[in-house]
Amino acid sequence: MSDEALENLLAEDRTFPPPAEFAAAANLSDPSVYERARRDPEGFWAAEADTLHWFKAWDRVLDWELPFAQWFVGAETNMSYNCLDRHVNSGGGDKVAYHWEGEPGDTRTITYAQLLEDVCRCANALRELGVGTGDRVAIYMPMIPETVVTMLACARIGAPHTLVFAGFSADALADRMHDSGAKLLVTADGQNRRGQQVSLKPNADAAFASATECNYMLVVRRTGQDIAWNDEVDFWWHDVVDRQEPQCPPVRLDSEHMLYLLYTSGTTAKPKGIKHTTGGYMVGVAATHRWVFDIKDDDVYWCAADVGWVTGHSYIVYGPLCNHTTGVMYEGTPDFPDKDRWWSIVERYGVTILYCAPTAIRTFMKWGDTYPGAHDLSSLRLLGSVGEPINPEAWIWYRDVIGSGRTPVVDTWWQTETGAIMVSPLPGLTTTKPGSATYALPGIDADVVDDEGRSVPDGSGGYLVLRSPWPAMLRGIYGDDERYAETYWRRFPGMYFAGDGAKKDDDGYLWVLGRVDDVMNVSGHRISTTEVESALVSHDAVAEAAVVGRDDETTGQAIAAFVVLRAGVVGDDALLAELRDHVASVIGPIAKPKSIVFTEDLPKTRSGKIMRRLLRDISENRKLGDVTTLANADIVNEIADRASAAAPED
Ligand code: WT7
Repeated sequence: MSDEALENLLAEDRTFPPPAEFAAAANLSDPSVYERARRDPEGFWAAEADTLHWFKAWDRVLDWELPFAQWFVGAETNMSYNCLDRHVNSGGGDKVAYHWEGEPGDTRTITYAQLLEDVCRCANALRELGVGTGDRVAIYMPMIPETVVTMLACARIGAPHTLVFAGFSADALADRMHDSGAKLLVTADGQNRRGQQVSLKPNADAAFASATECNYMLVVRRTGQDIAWNDEVDFWWHDVVDRQEPQCPPVRLDSEHMLYLLYTSGTTAKPKGIKHTTGGYMVGVAATHRWVFDIKDDDVYWCAADVGWVTGHSYIVYGPLCNHTTGVMYEGTPDFPDKDRWWSIVERYGVTILYCAPTAIRTFMKWGDTYPGAHDLSSLRLLGSVGEPINPEAWIWYRDVIGSGRTPVVDTWWQTETGAIMVSPLPGLTTTKPGSATYALPGIDADVVDDEGRSVPDGSGGYLVLRSPWPAMLRGIYGDDERYAETYWRRFPGMYFAGDGAKKDDDGYLWVLGRVDDVMNVSGHRISTTEVESALVSHDAVAEAAVVGRDDETTGQAIAAFVVLRAGVVGDDALLAELRDHVASVIGPIAKPKSIVFTEDLPKTRSGKIMRRLLRDISENRKLGDVTTLANADIVNEIADRASAAAPED
């Protein structure tokens, strides 16, 4: 038996100091920044806020009545002014804001000056359709420029937006529209996915029918496919937006004015409307984007997330535009027309910074090195990862194959709720270790605690918490203060608990070990799924792995593994035995999977996170839980068939 909140099993001794040339030119290269922020956090954030535009200065930096924070109290600002007018007014209007590419190959280049005009036209159109300051607008859109235009137009007039990822169903959209009380729905006829035109308007119609507060739909023609149309409520974007004046004064908004709601789906419970406000969020995303991605004037930055997730909000739209960055935006899937689409984009636009999710990296790893190998990726100078723990082997592959063994890799930990990156290397300062998000950023007070909320010593595991408020933090769950306090602030009094397990290694580096709900208990040892998965992925034959704890008479839980092999590898009994021994030798016999099932794919949410809950259901022969939020529902039945055919090992 062990009394540790979470075992520390996997050891990693590879280290990567920042390349000297990179460090010499980096935006943050003086380590005293951490100490400066620690001594005076409010002064530190106020200095960051000073780099942005405020119509009226703040009276106080922070009002903190746990768990409710207000930042830059009494100040007035406007996010769209900071993203657009500020740059255009100082002569930066001709710089490209986005190189956009549609999946069929159509492209658009949009400068800051053009974006400002489009945003003003859209803001005027929103007003014409009855949207005023404070009204909510739902956005159910593909990855097209109009999506960003709508977000910024909302920000311009102070109408909080709520984006619903375009892969979600009509019911999911209806729930979110209802909970937010959206007055307008902005959508498109359809979108391009893997060579197909996938319709959106029918889902929008179905959701609209049950969303009583919503008056109209504004519809972008993207695919030109046939759609149902109701003249009383439906308006084409090109009819209403294009004829508007290209000027619209930004509304002076209170720093704590709601900027947006973004719903995170708990696996079972009703989705939570995470509320973000204006001033603090703006400071948080602008600063972290500049530090972590080391943004320079000539960078071509590509965050390949979908704009419907928080990564898109903070690091495709608001952070990059605040920093006058040139970005890349791509509409479609990575395997259309072939599996090298991303690398073709990197080559053609000369992308210097790439930010994506471990699930994408592991998929590319599974497809093999020839696809990236066919392109010149030498423009890349920095790589980022977000969304899940990145297995050390995937990290090394990313750095070696995509980054030619030269680029720093930043593994960034954060959440919809935190609004901005919390734990990450600074690429010019931090010596990285593959798989570790390293340290909290300056001004962020992260720690790992035990069951009683005591800070654990180096070398131990526990719960990842944030001890002090930060500017981009959520301001609550929309309409439910009690649920907000209960969900995030009660487990450890006075601390924000994020739901993730983590460990500090012997050097004090932080390793995020996944959701604590996924932790396995084998003979009294609490073992993180991440460490066992990373041990599996460290074998040459393996591209991706998921493990879960399944009921076991002797050990409480036994480890059941699901493994995706690299292209060309055959999964036979010999490999099965070899993988079990491999795990035992990498982290110890306690972590040896009892059973292993080979599969083509793993069940994932639409944002690419592995859904271990369903694998637990399969392993314990239960009726499958809710699969509606799954991106690839078919794979679950396939895995269930294989699992019942595979006899468990000893
Ligand atoms: C959860 C938040 C933050 C933008 C995308 C996801 C997991 C996120 C990491 C990382 C290990 C990570 C955590 C977190 N996660 N980044 N670098 N290492 N885990 O936003 O959908 O709100 O998910 O994603 O479990 O709590 P989200």
